Amino acid sequence: EKGGYEHFMLKEIFEQTSSIHDTIRGRVSPQNKEVFLGGINDVIPKLVNARRILIIGCGTSWHAGMVGEYLFEEFARIPVEVEYASEFRYRNPVIFEDDIVLAISQSGETADTLAAIKLAKEAGATVLGICNVVGSSIPRETDAGVYTHAGPEIGVASTKAFTAQVTVLTMMAMLVGYRKGTLEKEEYHKLIEEFSHLPEKIAKILEKDQDIKELSKRYIESTNALYLGRGFLFPVALEGALKLKEISYIHAEGYPAAEMKHGPIALIDEHMPVFVAATKDKSYEKIVSNIQEVKARKGHVIAIVTEGDTVIADMADYVIEIPETLEALAPLLTVVPFQLISYYIAVLRGCNVDQPRNLAKSVTVE
Ligand code: M6R
Repeated sequence: EKGGYEHFMLKEIFEQTSSIHDTIRGRVSPQNKEVFLGGINDVIPKLVNARRILIIGCGTSWHAGMVGEYLFEEFARIPVEVEYASEFRYRNPVIFEDDIVLAISQSGETADTLAAIKLAKEAGATVLGICNVVGSSIPRETDAGVYTHAGPEIGVASTKAFTAQVTVLTMMAMLVGYRKGTLEKEEYHKLIEEFSHLPEKIAKILEKDQDIKELSKRYIESTNALYLGRGFLFPVALEGALKLKEISYIHAEGYPAAEMKHGPIALIDEHMPVFVAATKDKSYEKIVSNIQEVKARKGHVIAIVTEGDTVIADMADYVIEIPETLEALAPLLTVVPFQLISYYIAVLRGCNVDQPRNLAKSVTVE
């Protein structure tokens, strides 16, 4: 049932060409230049008028939520707070009746996320869900929602569920932004058009699989790793670090690249691999300087760059080129090499990637 792949995780990474397609099917139409999300159609007016959105989740779903924050802010100009469900439920959170609470969960069964939903409902907020498992508890508890349609995810490390969650968040933010008038028609249409090219772009990244395996060999003895990104790619750095630590047991941290100076740069020496999401966007020049800072301290830089980038290629130890895309869609592509790097490092270290120690696929106890 692993479809010829050695592990479910690898199969699921490769499935992202079709899973993204399944997530957008019937929802993004390049012909009509329209986004349609049936599950939340009735609450779109509420979203358009929302004073704020609270996004809750755990682990990878929380990282997807972080991308969601940037997306809603950019397209719909709605303030967003992203909360760990476990903290939110035990804090004494301020929840207004006109808040939109958006719970993200692959399994739809995460105990802390469910408890946070109950709290939000008691406070009278509108609660929406983004879940993968159809008929699970969270979709039953929420007022409305959107399924990710990524298909079953068996590997404990979330891969295709993450890209599906980010895809749904992108569609939601685009739709709300367009209806609200904060996302220009031209930009909206550009995004819709680009969406249809994502599966083929992911396929192109996956063709580099063996090169990525080769470069991963260099890092199997590492004891620490840093992941850096800025803007939309900061949450991708967090996700890259989580992927590495949960399956390879190498300690890894994700940071916004500019935060390095405020502490983590002290860790950098010739033994430290630094994985940088550095595709061409608004912060490109800034991330180039961050890479220089790492190199000046002899860190090993492995950078994910836009095809044809020669500037970073001259500075970094390795570059992985990925196809160009719109800035807001870049998380969907840049995360893929990070997934593969973690997978290969873990496999080469002899780890059980599908069932890492101490972890369960769905955390139904707090
Ligand atoms: O099923 P959920 O999305 O609610 O699960 C949340 C986390 O437990 C999950 O994302 C976890 O962090 C994964 N192992 C990450 O790969």
